[in-house]
Amino acid sequence: MTLSDLDDLLAARHSCRAFRPDAVPRADIERIVATARRVPSWCNAQPWQLVITSGPETEAFRAALTAEVQSGVAKPDLAFPTGYSGVYQDRRRSCGWALYEAVGVEKGDRQGSAAQMMKNFSLFGAPHCAIVSSPAELGGYGAMDCGGFVAAFTLAAQALEVATIPQAAVASYAPFLHRHFGIGEDRLILCAISFGYSDTGHPANGFRTDRAPVAEIVEWRG
Ligand SMILES: Cc1cc2nc3c(=O)[nH]c(=O)nc-3n(C[C@H](O)[C@H](O)[C@H](O)COP(=O)(O)O)c2cc1C
Repeated sequence: MTLSDLDDLLAARHSCRAFRPDAVPRADIERIVATARRVPSWCNAQPWQLVITSGPETEAFRAALTAEVQSGVAKPDLAFPTGYSGVYQDRRRSCGWALYEAVGVEKGDRQGSAAQMMKNFSLFGAPHCAIVSSPAELGGYGAMDCGGFVAAFTLAAQALEVATIPQAAVASYAPFLHRHFGIGEDRLILCAISFGYSDTGHPANGFRTDRAPVAEIVEWRG
C-alpha cells in the first residue's frame, strides 16, 4: 500500500447528506468495525461502543428522534462548542454556504436552512445509524480516542463504497438516546454516524469541502 492509496481513500470520502434506502450487508458492517478498531487509544482502552440500527429499528429511531426534536430540548452529554471565531467561523460558514448553495437555499432563507438542518434527524434517509459512546470516566481523552475511531470507520466504509456522515446534531438529544437505546448514564453519547449507499445525484452530495494548507497547520521549530 502506498501513501497515495490512502490519499485517494481520504479524497473519496465526504459527508453524505442523501442516501439510497438499500441496506448494507451485515458482514460489510462488521468488516468496517473490525478495521476501524485498529486505531490507537490511550492505554489501549478502546473506549468506543456502538449501537447500530438496521431495517425497522432505523425507521423507528428516525421517527422517534424527529418527534423528540419537535417537542424536546437539546441537551448533549459532551458540551457543544461555545463559539466559533476567526478562521474557525470562516470555515464553518463556508461549509454551511456550500451545502445551502448545493441544495438551493438562499442566504437569509431561515425556513430553508432550518428544513435542511432538520434532515439531520431523519438521518438523511440512511438505512443505518451507529450511536457512538464512550465511558464518562474517560472524559475528554475517551472522546478523543473515539474521534479517531469515527474517522477510521468513515474511511473503512469508503473503501467498501459505503457513504457516511458523523452527526453531532443527533447526539444533542442525548437523554432521548440514552432512553431509546438503553445506553447507561455512565457513558457519554458522542455522535451518530449515519451510513449506507450514497444517492450520488442528489444536490446535497454535490459539493466538497476544502482544507487549509500544511503551512497553516504546522508551526515549524528547527
Ligand atoms: C464529530 C463530527 C460531527 C459532525 N456533525 C455533523 C452534523 O451534525 N450534521 C452535519 O450535517 N454534518 C456533521 N458533520 C460533518 C462535517 O460538517 C464535515 O465533516 C465537514 O464539513 C467536512 O466535510 P467532509 O466530511 O465532507 O469532508 C460532523 C463531522 C464530525 C467529524
